[in-house]
Order: sequence, then structure tokens, then C-alpha cells
Amino acid sequence: MTGRVRTGVLISGRGSNMSALIEAARNKDFPAEIALVLSDKPQAAGIRAAQLAGVAALGLDAKRFAGKPEFEAAMTVALAAAEAELICLAGFMRILSPAFVERWRGRILNIHPSLLPDLRGLQTHERALAEGRAEHGCTVHFVTADLDAGPIVAQARVPVLPGDDADRLAARVLVEEHRLYPEALATVARAIRAGRGAE
Ligand code: GAR
Repeated sequence: MTGRVRTGVLISGRGSNMSALIEAARNKDFPAEIALVLSDKPQAAGIRAAQLAGVAALGLDAKRFAGKPEFEAAMTVALAAAEAELICLAGFMRILSPAFVERWRGRILNIHPSLLPDLRGLQTHERALAEGRAEHGCTVHFVTADLDAGPIVAQARVPVLPGDDADRLAARVLVEEHRLYPEALATVARAIRAGRGAE
């Protein structure tokens, strides 16, 4: 039961969800610790934010690898060196191969800006508005080989309000993302720790 669950966070951009996870994990009672931040874009703003927060961060320029298997092998090496047991995708805008997902089966979480199973894929805020939905939100789920289709851990809902554009709606959802993701990570990390106790 002892030992926090070492977690790698994968990002591609600004990393605001990453920062929410780092902030939550500052509390020593939080069941996970952020062992490493990895970005597929070395220029990602989130890398700098992680470093400023005192977390190890590494940019692996996906474009510089011969292909996806080589890039993912480098990620696995870095994650293994950091002794990561769990991965959180936080705005990581790259589809992971079935082989990588299998290697980390049951150990990859993602946050997606919609109420899954609705609105998988990209541009969820624009599509929620275009479809005239009354409600929107975000979902934390386990990653499987099917995009945005793995088992759901937690969801948060927000209303779509008159006068919303995609930016306003995204901002309302993002507030919930920052609350939901640490909560969901804590739930999963506690389950992993309980499983360790049973081993
Ligand atoms: C977040 O809204 C996240 O839900 C979304 O990208 C944003 C990243 O923001 N993820 C996806 O769309 C994944 N398909 P952040 O870098 O500030 O956390």
C-alpha cells in the first residue's frame, strides 16, 4: 500500500491539465506523484511550466524519429527510466499505436473535452454548438486501441449557455477538466495501490 503511484504525463501543448495534476500531487497525501512530463513537441509551453514546477520534463520531437514505433519506443524508455506505472494523456494530440496501448494496458488515462461516448475526436466544442446541445462537458477514461472509447472513470457536465462561442464553452469545460482529472487520477491510483496490497 505504501508508495505513491509514479505517473508520467504526456502533453503536446500548453499543459494546463498537466499543471492541475502537478498541483494536486504537491499534497503528499495525494496517491500519485508526477514522475515525468513528456511532450511530442519540444517547444510545448507545458514543458517549461513543468520545469518551473520542479518536475522532470522531456521533449521528444516525434518528427525526428523514423516512425511511430521508434518514437513510442523512446517514450517507453523514458517512462521506464522514470519508473512510471501509470500514464496520463493531457492534451497529447497523437494517436498511440495498439502495441503501445497493449504494453500499458489498463495504465493509460486520457481527458477528453466531451461527454463520451458523444463527440469523439476533435473540435468537440464547435460540434456541441453546431448540434445545438444543451449540455457539454469532459470525460476521463482509460485508453484502449479504439479512439476515445475506453472505459469511463469520471465525467463532469456544464451547460451550453446562450451566446456561447467555442472559446467560451471551452473555457467553461476547462475549469471542470482541471477539477476532474486530479480526482480521477486519485481514484485510479488508489485502486492501483490497493492492488499492490493484494499482491
Ligand atoms: C484539453 O481541453 C483536453 O481535454 C484536450 O486538449 C486540451 C489540452 O489543454 N484534449 C483533447 O482534445 C484530446 N483529444 P491543456 O494542454 O491546457 O491541458
